[in-house]
Amino acid sequence: MVGTSSFHFFPVFLLLLLLLLLSFSHFNSNQFTQVFTSFSPFRREETNHTTTTPQVSLDGVLSTSMYKSTKHKAATIKKKSNPERIEQDLAKARAAVLKAVQQQNFTLEKQDTFVPRGSIYRNAYAFYQSHAEMVKRLKVWTYREGEPPLVHNGPLNNIYAIEGQFMDEMESKENPFKARHPDQAHIFFLPLSVTGVVHYVYKPITTVRDYSRDRLQRLVTDYINTVAAKYPYWNRSRGADHFMVSCHDWVLCSFVFEVSECRILRHTSELCFGSDRSGSETAPEVSHANPQLFKYFIRVLCNANTSEGFRPKIDVSLPEIYLPFGKLGPPDLSRGLNNRPVLAFFAGSPHGYIRKILLEYWKDKDSEVQVHAQLPKDVNYTKMMGQSKFCLCPSGFEVASPREVEAIYAGCVPVIISDNYKLPFSDVLNWSQFSVQVPVGKIPEIKTILQGIPDSKYLKMHKRVKRVRRHFELNRPAKPFDVIHMVLHSVWLRRLNFRLSP
Ligand SMILES: *[C@@H]1O[C@H](CO)[C@@H](O)[C@H](O)[C@H]1NC(C)=O
Ligand SMILES: *[C@@H]1O[C@H](CO)[C@@H](O)[C@H](O)[C@H]1NC(C)=O
Ligand SMILES: *[C@@H]1O[C@H](CO)[C@@H](O)[C@H](O)[C@H]1NC(C)=O
Ligand SMILES: *[C@@H]1O[C@H](CO)[C@@H](O)[C@H](O)[C@H]1NC(C)=O
Ligand SMILES: *[C@@H]1O[C@H](CO)[C@@H](O)[C@H](O)[C@H]1NC(C)=O
Ligand SMILES: *[C@@H]1O[C@H](CO)[C@@H](O)[C@H](O)[C@H]1NC(C)=O
Repeated sequence: MVGTSSFHFFPVFLLLLLLLLLSFSHFNSNQFTQVFTSFSPFRREETNHTTTTPQVSLDGVLSTSMYKSTKHKAATIKKKSNPERIEQDLAKARAAVLKAVQQQNFTLEKQDTFVPRGSIYRNAYAFYQSHAEMVKRLKVWTYREGEPPLVHNGPLNNIYAIEGQFMDEMESKENPFKARHPDQAHIFFLPLSVTGVVHYVYKPITTVRDYSRDRLQRLVTDYINTVAAKYPYWNRSRGADHFMVSCHDWVLCSFVFEVSECRILRHTSELCFGSDRSGSETAPEVSHANPQLFKYFIRVLCNANTSEGFRPKIDVSLPEIYLPFGKLGPPDLSRGLNNRPVLAFFAGSPHGYIRKILLEYWKDKDSEVQVHAQLPKDVNYTKMMGQSKFCLCPSGFEVASPREVEAIYAGCVPVIISDNYKLPFSDVLNWSQFSVQVPVGKIPEIKTILQGIPDSKYLKMHKRVKRVRRHFELNRPAKPFDVIHMVLHSVWLRRLNFRLSP
């Protein structure tokens, strides 16, 4: 690989080298994650080992038996904790990433056929190296406690598909990141499916009270208390090397500790009723879960709303990917650059305040800025994206929308219209290179803004969209640099950012 690719690789490489020399000459070795983002320093806030008494409370919905491990008894897991070895391993990974940044180069792994380069990355060297270190070293332990459908089982298609696909990949026999023993693990995965909980536990929903998050909170709290009582791993880090993945939007409200009020997301009613029947304007009382318990816990979430308790330094923004039944993505109907007659395209219901504004201004009004609440039957959504230069991606009931990923798949430059949304993989990717961000207040100016982008700039953005695509593609089994690797890499970065105290 090295031989054949080095011809093209070298000139670009030297150019990058120069650019990086200029931009990172002030590099401080204590802050390597700064090269990805304005990220926290090496050592995250000291974990506080003063513990409070856990409050386990089970109601009729949860039975203690659901936490009994089925196939694998706790007894088979021997006590041979070796956090020092894990920390040494992580130290080597940190050193390699630092070296890549300082030397403006990386150690090419033989098997890699793809090397990130170019401006879509905040720092391509650092990213390549930390991804390589992850592939080389990372071991994830997926807790085995609990039984489907609430645990070990998530949705594999539709709007929350990424939740189930990720979990399924982690649990798959072929998953190369799978730790054979939890003592090997750098990171611990709690295979809870919030979508599953909402689907199976929150039934029937007849009154607003039925939306109360208590049951979800108790379920997660009980799960954590169970594994924390059984194994040493949770307590030794206070959960800082533990994560869960949820595309369903209930997690934020359930495990926050600084937001006093919580919305009912009407999305939920869609899920539960299969229609757009709305909840209520008044939020039900949310009894907050034990805040200490969730203080360091990594939540990988589609609903990365920073004004709702999403913590960019600890949590991870998960892309929402709509999967048709039995497919890993939409058909590829993207057209070439010169075959995109539509300037901007959107079709979707007026969910949430942003889309209401968008539809109010643009619905069925302009042939270049095509905004529809409903597409005519003979118009194909995916095809329309493939024929448009820009695809509008306004937030709906929650900040994330499957449109960002759909646009990228269709070679259509995403136009992000949102407030307080932390975009996926922004530790690594520079979204402003391949997307346009339009503040909600400038929705009336969309046409002027997009028309004002010169062809040459559009051409570059379009090319970058095509290049960034691989990071949003879903493969089963997962492949290097694809969306599952990107999600894991985001968690890996956070793990690199703190040390277990011995
Ligand atoms: C740890 O928690 C205890 C009790 O909540 C508090 O008094 C103490 O200041 C905390 N220590 C640190 C380092 O945060
Ligand atoms: C960068 O590393 C590669 C091997 O990974 C090596 O072949 C190349 O010479 C290095 N380039 C520089 C400028 O050091
Ligand atoms: C990201 O791209 C923008 C231009 O689109 C540029 O101004 C900015 O410096 C870039 N940020 C990084 C970290 O490379
Ligand atoms: C972890 O801490 C909790 C709360 O203090 C305690 O009940 C549990 O026994 C601890 N787990 C282990 C394995 O010591
Ligand atoms: C759009 O057309 C493609 C290819 O003809 C097809 O596979 C897809 O299902 C269509 N999408 C919709 C939403 O009808
Ligand atoms: C983000 O959270 C804030 C605070 O709860 C809320 O007002 C806003 O509607 C949320 N954004 C979206 C798009 O849901």
